[in-house]
Amino acid sequence: MSIIKIIKYGNPILTKRAEEIINIDKYIEKLAQNMVHTMYAAPGIGLSAPQVNQSKRLITIDLSVGEKSRNLIILINPELISQEGEIVSEEGCLSIPDINEKVARPSRVVVKGVDLKDHEKIYEAEGPLARALCHEIDHLNGKLFIDRLSSLKRNIVKKKLKKWIQEGKI
Ligand code: NI
Repeated sequence: MSIIKIIKYGNPILTKRAEEIINIDKYIEKLAQNMVHTMYAAPGIGLSAPQVNQSKRLITIDLSVGEKSRNLIILINPELISQEGEIVSEEGCLSIPDINEKVARPSRVVVKGVDLKDHEKIYEAEGPLARALCHEIDHLNGKLFIDRLSSLKRNIVKKKLKKWIQEGKI
């Protein structure tokens, strides 16, 4: 396993719709393993393939940071089947360092996808897991959490990020 460099804000791959995975082959298995390794090393609670420069519909999530047992989700071609409610809570992203903002997300979601064995997986999630699933699926659709802020907030954040890019900080 190896750690992959995480793509940062400003790279066009983060704004592109990622491609469906047709065959779960050795390449995808390896990519998933490396993403898990990269996510834990960061450390982060979620990662999407575009963030490691692969335009593929693949996400990894593990909310059990600092806990003894890991609760890893690897999901291929995830789809948001249904959503309800709304919760506003702070969010960050490994591709957007040092920015945390409150984002509205559904309080409950149903997400369907397949695992590495091509077995169908359905997650009925709420709270932080619902948030993480929405955040990572957004990545696959070329959407970042800052895109979900009010235009006023988004413009402030984007100005800050532009400055950081010019200064070579990200
Ligand atoms: Ni993210």
